[in-house]
Amino acid sequence: MASQRRRSSALSSLILLSLLVAASAEVFFEERFDDGWENRWVKSDWKKDEKLAGEWNYTSGKWNGDPNDKGIQTSEDYRFYAISAEFPEFSNKDKTLVFQFSVKHEQKLDCGGGYMKLLSSGIDQKKFGGDTPYSIMFGPDICGYSTKKVHAIITYNETNHLIKKDVPCETDQLTHVYTFILRPDATYSILIDNVEKQSGSLYSDWSILPPKKIKDPEAKKPEDWDDKEYIPDPEDKKPEGYDDIPKEIPDPEAKKPEDWDDEEDGEWTAPTMANPEYKGPWKQKKIKNPNYKGKWKAPMIDNPDFKDDPDIYVYPSLKYVGIELWQVKSGTLFDNVLICDDPEYAKNLVEETWGKQKDAEKAAFDEEEKKKEEEESKDDPVDSDAEIEDDEDDADAEDDSDAEAKPEAHLADDTEESAHDEL
Ligand SMILES: *[C@@H]1O[C@H](CO)[C@@H](O)[C@H](O)[C@H]1NC(C)=O
Ligand SMILES: *[C@@H]1O[C@H](CO)[C@@H](O)[C@H](O)[C@H]1NC(C)=O
Repeated sequence: MASQRRRSSALSSLILLSLLVAASAEVFFEERFDDGWENRWVKSDWKKDEKLAGEWNYTSGKWNGDPNDKGIQTSEDYRFYAISAEFPEFSNKDKTLVFQFSVKHEQKLDCGGGYMKLLSSGIDQKKFGGDTPYSIMFGPDICGYSTKKVHAIITYNETNHLIKKDVPCETDQLTHVYTFILRPDATYSILIDNVEKQSGSLYSDWSILPPKKIKDPEAKKPEDWDDKEYIPDPEDKKPEGYDDIPKEIPDPEAKKPEDWDDEEDGEWTAPTMANPEYKGPWKQKKIKNPNYKGKWKAPMIDNPDFKDDPDIYVYPSLKYVGIELWQVKSGTLFDNVLICDDPEYAKNLVEETWGKQKDAEKAAFDEEEKKKEEEESKDDPVDSDAEIEDDEDDADAEDDSDAEAKPEAHLADDTEESAHDEL
């Protein structure tokens, strides 16, 4: 009885909670990619003339936690992708802004982005591309071994500012949810799979405004400031005659050869050897300086160039969400795009979607990998003695393919770089 009562009261508070959440959350855009998604998204004509515009595949992917839960996946290699959706224009002033989506790189991404953009009014969706100004760019970016990070680019006064903190992204072939939260006090959080990976402030983690405080340029180190941590020990004196000890001495063991002829061979001198008494140039011992005051630091003062902008976080006319990518290898699948004002709502959505599917997806992925391994060993039958060696060969082969992919990665690198140059 008691347990039943507890359960029903827990249940009713759960219902109450979700009602509260539902009542308080304002959802500006939510896309689960159900039927009809194509009416909501506009494929850009960008790169079409050059035949470099990639096609999207509407699919749940090769492995998934629910075959009926589809998203959109890049389906052609060496292609540009640009697609966007519109929502009723809004300003995030005095509101928390939550930007969230899930992404899965089925292709073992070696170079390419998995990020999305929030854009403001005044753009042409049909022309959406790499040069289209955006307001926020957020999500994972992978290229080679060096770039494996979560981008969080904030546009302010027409300039793109990259986050100064390093936020590593997920690199496996499973679905992960990326969440960016921007609050009216200019603080932010970055979450992956509902776990906070980074947080801080727009003021400190981006160089959007000049710093609030600077070192006083007028300040000078006082003449008598002693910043030597160690000083020579005045008690330690050079022993008498120390400098007279020679580095090398004649080898006492050496003897003039019997057949040495002074007249023909010149005067014999014994070969020299290192003097065991010689200890190198004399160095005075060091002791802690009793007058050490620590390293001198200029005092911080208010930066005269700093002008606060309490609206530093505000985008007055957000209106579009888009994906704009270059991909060497395709297979990146986007789903569950959310723009709202309530981190709790976003969190629940993650639990409802990714949270419920991740185990089944992982199992499906493991199954797929096992099948692939079996196929490979069938293709390449070897006797069991050679198996270990063969495994090593496989690893080598993989390395080789990586090496072959390098020039391609460079191509993407350049593209990325030029894209980044425009920031
Ligand atoms: C779309 O994805 C499914 C599942 O991975 C795959 O079987 C199919 O071949 C893909 N279609 C295209 C056109 O890439
Ligand atoms: C905005 O950019 C312009 C032009 O680059 C510059 O003159 C102005 O100081 C900037 N304003 C702020 C608040 O950064």
